[in-house]
Amino acid sequence: MRPRSTFPGAITTLRSATKRTSRACWTFWPDGHDGSGQETRMTRLDSAIRRLTAQRDLLDWAAQNVGPAGLVLEIGLGNGRTYDHLRAKLPGREIHVFERSPAAHPDCYPPEGYLIVGDLFDTLPPFIERHGRGSAALIHIDIGSGDEEANRSLARRLSPLLEALLQPGGILLGDRAFDMPSCRDISAETKVPEGRYFVYRRAA
Ligand SMILES: C[S@@+](CC[C@H](N)C(=O)[O-])C[C@H]1O[C@@H](n2cnc3c(N)ncnc32)[C@H](O)[C@@H]1O
Repeated sequence: MRPRSTFPGAITTLRSATKRTSRACWTFWPDGHDGSGQETRMTRLDSAIRRLTAQRDLLDWAAQNVGPAGLVLEIGLGNGRTYDHLRAKLPGREIHVFERSPAAHPDCYPPEGYLIVGDLFDTLPPFIERHGRGSAALIHIDIGSGDEEANRSLARRLSPLLEALLQPGGILLGDRAFDMPSCRDISAETKVPEGRYFVYRRAA
C-alpha cells in the first residue's frame, strides 16, 4: 500500500511536515488548522489565491486613495491581469506599462506609446528624464521570481528609481519590500494582512 504521506494533499502534522521538507508550500495556516480541527498545510493553490486576493484588494484600495493628478505605472505587464484591473478601476488615467518581454493576453496590452519594452534598468532612467522626478501618483510593481536572493537584490537596486518617480503623497504597491527612505510603509493602514503585499506612501 502507498504510504499515507505520499498522497498529494494528505493531512499531516506540523512536526512530521517540518521534518520532511522546509519548502514554503509547507507553511501552515496561522491557527494551525483549517477549521476542521485537523492541522493541515497551505497548498500552492491556497498561496496563489491569497496573493492574488491581496493584489486585487490593494489595487481597489489604491484606486480610492490615489491622488487626482499624476501618472500611474504598472511595472511588470506579465499576463496583463493587474494592468487590466488598474485600467478598469482608473478610467481616464494615463497608465504607462513596463515589460522586458511582452507576452500578455491579447486583450490586455496598453495603447500605442504606453508600453515601454526593455529591462527596467535601461527604461526607467530615460522615463524619469522625460516625465520628471515625482511624476507618478501610483506605482504597482510585481516582478518577483522564485529566487528570493535575486528578488532582494532587484528590489535594492530598483528602490532609488521608484522613489524618484513617486510624487509627494504618491503610493507604491509592491510584491516585495523596497528601501525608500522618503516613504512610509503604510501596509498596516490597508486591510491586507501583514507581509502579503507591501504599500508605501511618499511623504507629502
Ligand atoms: C509576475 S509577472 C507580472 C504579472 C502581472 N502583474 C499580471 O497580473 O499579469 C512579472 C513580469 O515582470 C517582468 N520583469 C521581471 N523583471 C523585469 C525587468 N528587470 N525588466 C522588465 N521587466 C521585468 C517579467 O518579464 C514578467 O512578465
